[in-house]
Amino acid sequence: MNEKTYSDWYNYSISDSDDFWLEKAKEFISWSEEPTIGQEGSMSERNYSWFSDGKLNVSYNCIDRHVNNGRGNHNAIIWEGNDENSLTITYDELLINVSKFSNLLKAQGIKKGEKVCIYMPMIPEAIYAMLACARIGAVHTVVFGGFSSEALVSRILDSECVAIITADVIKRGNKTIPLKKKVDEAIEKCPTVSTIITVSTYTEFSQTTKYDIDYNTAVILMSDICEPLPMNSEDPLFILYTSGSTGKPKGVLHTTGGYILYASITHKYIFDYHTNEVYWCTADIGWITGHSYVVYGPLANGATTLVFEGVPTFPTPARYWEIVDKHEVNIIYSTPTTIRSLMAQGDEYVQSTSRKSLRILGSVGEPINPEAWRWYSKVIGRNTCPIMDTWWQTETGGIAISPLPCSSNLKPGFATQPFFGITPVIINEEGEELFGETEGILVLKGSWPGQLRSLYNDKERFAETYLNKYPGYYLTGDGVKRDSDGALAITGRIDDTLNISGRLLGTAEIESALILHKDVSEAAAVATSHPVKGWSISSFVTLNNGTEEKPRLKEELVDIVSREIGSYAKPDKIYCVESLPKTRSGKIMRRIIREISNGNISGFGDTSTLSNPEAVGQIIRKLGLES
Ligand code: PRX
Repeated sequence: MNEKTYSDWYNYSISDSDDFWLEKAKEFISWSEEPTIGQEGSMSERNYSWFSDGKLNVSYNCIDRHVNNGRGNHNAIIWEGNDENSLTITYDELLINVSKFSNLLKAQGIKKGEKVCIYMPMIPEAIYAMLACARIGAVHTVVFGGFSSEALVSRILDSECVAIITADVIKRGNKTIPLKKKVDEAIEKCPTVSTIITVSTYTEFSQTTKYDIDYNTAVILMSDICEPLPMNSEDPLFILYTSGSTGKPKGVLHTTGGYILYASITHKYIFDYHTNEVYWCTADIGWITGHSYVVYGPLANGATTLVFEGVPTFPTPARYWEIVDKHEVNIIYSTPTTIRSLMAQGDEYVQSTSRKSLRILGSVGEPINPEAWRWYSKVIGRNTCPIMDTWWQTETGGIAISPLPCSSNLKPGFATQPFFGITPVIINEEGEELFGETEGILVLKGSWPGQLRSLYNDKERFAETYLNKYPGYYLTGDGVKRDSDGALAITGRIDDTLNISGRLLGTAEIESALILHKDVSEAAAVATSHPVKGWSISSFVTLNNGTEEKPRLKEELVDIVSREIGSYAKPDKIYCVESLPKTRSGKIMRRIIREISNGNISGFGDTSTLSNPEAVGQIIRKLGLES
């Protein structure tokens, strides 16, 4: 595709949206009943659907059709283990493994529409589990293995899971994290769960609850034939939790036909995937990037997807580039945080590898600063690989703003242009559209097939969060600027969420954890600029009247956050302060705290509603910033 065809196709995708998407639905997807309807409903009606008369099965699209097309001996998965061992799984083998897993789920009585929690390391069985759910019509909710057992409980309860698929441990570098143990802690609080399937990878299976099934012994008894169940296009495929402005995570609901089409078409065009290429997305399946670009997009396109169990710095910071050489990776898709952290280790780790197979580089999850962009391009890509800076969200299902490999308008820090079917609009606080070179709030006009359909069991919160504030638009929660060439750059979150290492966290989630400490009265969490992570968390707490700061307070607070959310959410800094700046109506003015934590001690904008100005001076002094 060249730039001319991009703009022709883009214009067509907007002006004749239904025709465009129905055409692409037939080109990219195998349907058991082909759809004749494109979009129905609209965002203003808070109800929209895609391909509602179509029937298909996602697992069939990701496996069987490639086998039926004579590509069964082609590698579907290359698995690279933490300890440098590796494994290849062909499409023929994937079909057998997923069919057996599907039969195991069926043998446990799991039925279409029931919810299954997947809490797994990056091992092939995690992908079999996702595809097995899709094959029998069960709805998976993958919970990132780094989440604590408390966070696991709240997600299982909210989505009403009947089963959990897990593993004994997670191996990451030198660390071994007991996963099944966290499930055992959670299970008492999860009355809907009656099955726990454990894949034992590094240890012997041992039964610890009455719900336990040993995957390794149970699966060999299963038949390797399981007919994929035809699903309606709008049947749910999965629920995935993401942080919101309130303490409770949002269960983003994606459905079948629109999602798989959007994941596969974006994967094909944005990474220009060609048959026989090795494609590697470094994300964990616990996040949307893992869903759309480790599993569903690439497998729907019959690609070879590389799945990596470990971490970028083990055994040395050359690991990623050694994997690229070992498996002759053509396309790598990673995060700015990873790029920055490897950049900080020095070029010698990269120069010891050739990376000559690389053709395209991708970035996702947070704004990529120009310095990291240039290093990625020059040092990793040897100035020969275009960088796809892809902007999207759990809610968009797939990439929504990104260059294409044919683009000549690549710019460090700019995600540049919309994908087919996406209409980005920049508005001000009042909802008025801004034109030309400008900066404002990013909203999307009109629906696209990969768009979330709702928040699970919470249509009200869905409408409140995304649709009500600016009617007719989907509110992304991100700021954006447009340059004089029309290129778009995402500037960061504009709501009460923090983007730490490309992972969203709600300020309220962290604050609710901190105030569980018996000495803490109030808490505020803000983002402080960080050279590697992009942003880090700084927390400010006040103590109950008459309470002195105990020597171990900060460690105890860090432990509570790890227990309630997971260790990746730990604040980098915790300050005990006398009071927090508040509005007259009692709301914490996080904006002011954020400015101070980033070293700015004046120019706080409108402070007319500030009720306790002395709190500002106290925090400035606490951080040693007074002039
Ligand atoms: O703030 C944007 C940031 O990540 C948010 C979405 O997070 P999540 O739903 O967890 O999905 C992450 C992976 C798709 C966005 O609202 N973000 C994502 N990609 C970019 C980005 N910010 C700037 N540039 C990007 N390329």
